[in-house]
Amino acid sequence: PMVGGLPITIEPVSEPLSDAVRRERMREPGFGRVFSEHMLTIRWTRDGGWQDASLHRYGPLVLDPATSALHYGQSVFEGFKVYRGADGSVAAFRPEANAERFRASSRRLCLPELPVDVFVDAVDLLVAHDHEWVPTAPGHTLYIRPLLFASEPELVVRPSEECLFVLTAFVAADYFPRGLTPVSVWVADHFVRAAPGGTGAAKCAANYAAGLAAQAEAAEHGCDQVVFLDAVERRWIEELGGMNLLFVYGGDVPRIVTPELTGTLLPGITRDSLLTIARDLGYAVEERRISVDEWEADVRSGAMTEAFACGTAAVLTPVGRVRRGDAQWTIGDGGTGPVTASLRERLLAVQTGAAPDPHGWLRRI
Ligand code: PLP
Ligand code: COI
Repeated sequence: PMVGGLPITIEPVSEPLSDAVRRERMREPGFGRVFSEHMLTIRWTRDGGWQDASLHRYGPLVLDPATSALHYGQSVFEGFKVYRGADGSVAAFRPEANAERFRASSRRLCLPELPVDVFVDAVDLLVAHDHEWVPTAPGHTLYIRPLLFASEPELVVRPSEECLFVLTAFVAADYFPRGLTPVSVWVADHFVRAAPGGTGAAKCAANYAAGLAAQAEAAEHGCDQVVFLDAVERRWIEELGGMNLLFVYGGDVPRIVTPELTGTLLPGITRDSLLTIARDLGYAVEERRISVDEWEADVRSGAMTEAFACGTAAVLTPVGRVRRGDAQWTIGDGGTGPVTASLRERLLAVQTGAAPDPHGWLRRI
């Protein structure tokens, strides 16, 4: 057997969990707690390239304490979902796009670029072995987590000469426990997530670590999430710690506005999908800079009627309330607006196979 032209060893678990035990584990999965039974690993060395591909039982990795990624953060990951359709079929949403972004993130972090066909074949193989782990419960999915990190046990600061690709899958419930209830956001006043020339557009471990203190500050102020501003002028809206932001100007033809991809925010695949769906629905779409002052003014004038966050984990979640220092504003009536609802419904319908897929986003497995 092969993955994208690489030979692979396949060792399926000999005694899979019983249906009853698996169903019990899948009942309240949380996020990243309940993993499927297999994992796939591929090693890379500077001299030998990609090698030793293996599908085997999910379990711990043994790492030397000097493993470079643990110290210096040379590590990237991806996240996308596998959905079960109403007819029982199983499909991944845009895995090729994640494979491309994984390569781009790797390039930025001086990690080797896994070929797209290896990535996609690996996903097919893992999901084919763990088909029963694709949930049928509404709102539950199988979340695919590819990871690539510097595994060389040596602490000189330079690109690692050994890396490990690890592909796992876990059962995911809705990321926000309150479902479609709008979230509140805190505008970071002194923490920044990413600066020009930095790693903001890469999906690398360090970006998430860097955002935690700001997220904690948001929580202290009674908000669910943090909004990061640009590092230079501290005016321009970028994104949340793990989601992109879209704004809706209501009217006969709704207008969707989202920060342009400046290199300091993650090019979200949900963002891209929603902009495409918005155009398909006849909405106007603008990718441009938008300042936090404009956000406040446009909400207060009634021009901006809705805002929402989007990402693989969160899908699409309305933003109801914004706090910036002592100022705060409520978007629309603080609930879920009609444009947000229409986009969410259409996206989920495509993902679950309930609506046509004109852009070929689903990959049946
Ligand atoms: N922004 C950040 C920082 C993220 O971590 C994510 C999540 O993956 C997103 C945006 C949304 O990206 P995507 O829609 O590809 O999941
Ligand atoms: C995702 O949306 O899939 C992410 O990777 C971001 C984070 C909330 C886990």
